[in-house]
Amino acid sequence: MENIYFGSGFSMTNISYEEILSIQRKVKIEDIVQDYVALTKKGKNYFGICPFHDDHNPSMSVSSEKQMYKCFVCGAAGNVFNFVSEYEKVSYFEAVKVVANKIGINISIDNEDKTKIIKSPLYDIYDISSKVYQNNLNTSYGKKAKLYLKNRKINDDIIQKFNIGLSTTNNELINILKNKGFTEEDILESGVCIKNNNYIHDLYKNRIMFPLTDLQGNIVAFSGRIYEDVDESKYINTMETKIFKKGNLLYNYHNAKKEARKNQSIIIVEGFMDVIRLSTIGINNVVATMGTAVTKEQISLIKRLAKEIIVMFDGDDAGDKATKSFIELFGNYECLKIVRLENNYDPDEYILKNGKDKMIYHLKHAVSVFDYKMESYKKNIDFNNSQDVSKYINLSLKEIENIDDDIVRNLEISKLSKLTNVSIEVLNSKINVKKKDIIVNRYKIKSGKGDKYNKASKYIIYNMIKNNNYILYYFDNLSFLPNEIDRKLANEIVLFYKKFNSFNLNDFIVYLGDKKELINLLIEIDSMDLLICENENDLQSYFKTIKEYLSSTKINNLQNELKSTSNEIKRKEIAKKIVEIKLKESM
Ligand code: GTP
Ligand code: MN
Repeated sequence: MENIYFGSGFSMTNISYEEILSIQRKVKIEDIVQDYVALTKKGKNYFGICPFHDDHNPSMSVSSEKQMYKCFVCGAAGNVFNFVSEYEKVSYFEAVKVVANKIGINISIDNEDKTKIIKSPLYDIYDISSKVYQNNLNTSYGKKAKLYLKNRKINDDIIQKFNIGLSTTNNELINILKNKGFTEEDILESGVCIKNNNYIHDLYKNRIMFPLTDLQGNIVAFSGRIYEDVDESKYINTMETKIFKKGNLLYNYHNAKKEARKNQSIIIVEGFMDVIRLSTIGINNVVATMGTAVTKEQISLIKRLAKEIIVMFDGDDAGDKATKSFIELFGNYECLKIVRLENNYDPDEYILKNGKDKMIYHLKHAVSVFDYKMESYKKNIDFNNSQDVSKYINLSLKEIENIDDDIVRNLEISKLSKLTNVSIEVLNSKINVKKKDIIVNRYKIKSGKGDKYNKASKYIIYNMIKNNNYILYYFDNLSFLPNEIDRKLANEIVLFYKKFNSFNLNDFIVYLGDKKELINLLIEIDSMDLLICENENDLQSYFKTIKEYLSSTKINNLQNELKSTSNEIKRKEIAKKIVEIKLKESM
């Protein structure tokens, strides 16, 4: 008996929605599905033979971005837990256990039927190590490191806030961990100690230690920085483990999350010193990629956090290149803003040299992707050289072509004309505007079947998913759909939104738990190509259709009643009601 349908707040096991969500965030659906079905990557998605019907061509797609699977033929759809549950023919809860196991988390049920989540011992090893490191900074051994931090304007408050520590040269950590009873196997697996020629010792020797945390704030690794003039790599990270995949996390994600949701804005930088420095001037909605190329997992994390995303990488050429790759991988440009800092500074150096106000000014004046690209095309262009100008024009027109708004597009063309002294006519003759096929594409409902009420119903749910402002609007102004399952789904969306004050598809599916029918419908609607309402008035027209349905069924019922009643008084009452409904409808 394991029903973990959270939607109604009812759960036979006490593993919470939050716990399941945290497990889901640690796995990639494509990795787990790949344990069962071979997948090939095509564009953004993975494809494979659907295991849930007699499939001969790959008709199941797995979206890494959405963390969902969907079969185009049989309609099976869901998240990683739904997949494992369907495939292994086990309950949803069993599936959560299976998935958790794959990433080093054991969930068991004790003899009182209570769920226990047993975390990997690695978490404890990192916690203890971090405490040891932090303590070292306050000993006499730590004086030099403390001075280094002081010179970098990192005071005790910041040291505490980011749990900065120091490793020593005397192999203290391995002894402490062994004394605490951790097995050599676990200690080595954690990576804070290593074994050479049968001799096990601390990995970090005399480095300033920065703990790296996972999305929930658990320490899952360290990065250690040199602080004296030694010929070694600047930073050393602990190796990847089953709970630490560098590309799956962002430095400071856990702390930045709340701030980002509050301001609806997240800033992304390269290094952790940048995150730390920005926090000293009161800017806390910041995460760092930690120097490597950004991954699609990191992008999908960032997308969950806020509507506005500001990329502020180092001011040097490498930072510029990284900015371009970020834009490429990000795809949707509307919510992206770019800051480029002068003099090759990184945000840390910039704040130290120019102060808080200048940094805030920069952030306030972050530019659109379009402006950033147009500006960067100008670099290395000699405007007296026709060849150069022609190259510049071609690059610029490629960007301008993508602008939907006719007015904005024409303004950009006239700007370009002024800058290059090439006439607007010539520029216009070269442009190839990509008109979006809005009407033809968006109006069709893929599932085809259904009357206008069914269509209106799908439109309404679709719009609630895509624009969360419409959720309460639906609740306040309609709160009813004729089709029972549509209505159930809409109700759950409202409940979820009221409970968490936000909505995202991924979390909502986890919340729905084992309600397969609702999940399949939800994913089906999400993948439809319908019109997104521009405002509440647009949505009202669909509401009107539904209300029409309501009044016509009411009238039908009343007319039937009328036929079977001979009592004159009653007949008059019924007739009056019919007129009232008709009047209301015509208003
Ligand atoms: P500081 O030099 O202390 O100011 O750090 P930073 O944050 O400015 O570092 P930098 O811009 O050089 O690099 C950005 C990020 O890349 C760092 O925060 C690290 O996460 C990572 N990184 C830099 N150097 C190394 C290295 O030698 N090894 C590893 N593993 N990572 C590095
Ligand atoms: Mn730096």
